[in-house]
Amino acid sequence: MAKAVKTIGVLTSGGDAPGMNAAIRAVVRTAIHEGLKVKGIMRGYAGLLQEEIVDMGSTSVSDIIHRGGTILYTARCMEFMTPEGQAQGAEICRKHGIDGIVVIGGDGSFRGAGKLAALGINTIGVPGTIDLDVACSDYTIGFDTSVNTAMVAIDKVRDTSTSHERCSIIEVMGRKAGYIALWCGFANGAEDVLLPERYDGDEQALINRIIDNRKRGKKHNIIINAEGIGHSASMARRIEAATGIETRATILGHMQRGGTPTCKDRVYASIMGAKAALLLAAGKSNRVIAYRRGEYMDLDIQEALSMKKDIPEDQYEIEKMLVR
Ligand code: ADP
Ligand code: F6P
Repeated sequence: MAKAVKTIGVLTSGGDAPGMNAAIRAVVRTAIHEGLKVKGIMRGYAGLLQEEIVDMGSTSVSDIIHRGGTILYTARCMEFMTPEGQAQGAEICRKHGIDGIVVIGGDGSFRGAGKLAALGINTIGVPGTIDLDVACSDYTIGFDTSVNTAMVAIDKVRDTSTSHERCSIIEVMGRKAGYIALWCGFANGAEDVLLPERYDGDEQALINRIIDNRKRGKKHNIIINAEGIGHSASMARRIEAATGIETRATILGHMQRGGTPTCKDRVYASIMGAKAALLLAAGKSNRVIAYRRGEYMDLDIQEALSMKKDIPEDQYEIEKMLVR
């Protein structure tokens, strides 16, 4: 049932992602265009519970589209996982006249958004995470910038790896998902990619491939290891001991979360942010913006959260084929 809203809030939650600022800008400017007032909620659900709420106008989002991070800051908030915290959050919204919220974040943040919707605050989720692990959407804000940052960094490691004829294990982020790892595997022409969704723990097979690669004359051996598998340093020590080839581990870490958003992230974030504000203006609630099979759409939050997605098997097979 549609409910008219006059004032909306916008918050970013979970890990930050390049392009979140473009999404905030789009939410604010679209809402104003639709005659709504906008409030920025700082530090995700934590800031909501602390009532860190500021008025936003069109100029509050000037000069941010090109900036990484999020001007609203972000946080993870355990208190909001409890029914008491959620009830308090809804009450604070009502106190500040906020009758709709755009939540920019991942699946965890959408769970919180669903709770607010059930408590009568119209909520719309926008997928923002470098991990690409939002099941309902083929695209998440930040992924493109993140994989480009990782790709450039891995190219640099590859140079020195080749000069020293070493093996390099490079650990990329992604929480439990291997999308960043798979894309870097392709883009960097890695000799091996270890994905949490696929890795069977057979280190001997990995070692055999490294030995074989060296016999075939490869000067470097790049292994992309996903954070969800981890243990890159100890893996490097075992590989060096077993192969006799000097092996180094590099953990790329939070550099993958920062930096100037790519064109793709800015454009997708702008469209998704605008669509979220338009849904609120139309009185909609409990929806998530998604990009699926080349189209933007919105889905029921609970339906979105019940979806599953996996690494496309054909892509994984192609990646392996290209380096053998
Ligand atoms: P992401 O949104 O990137 O998946 P998290 O899983 O860390 O990141 O979730 C971000 C925040 O969303 C959490 O810190 C919490 O405040 C909120 N959240 C997560 N799960 C729930 C839940 N089941 N109920 C209410 N809020 C939740
Ligand atoms: O969800 C984004 C992400 O960068 C994951 O890839 C990683 O597992 C996690 O956040 C790291 O979180 P933190 O910023 O708390 O170290």
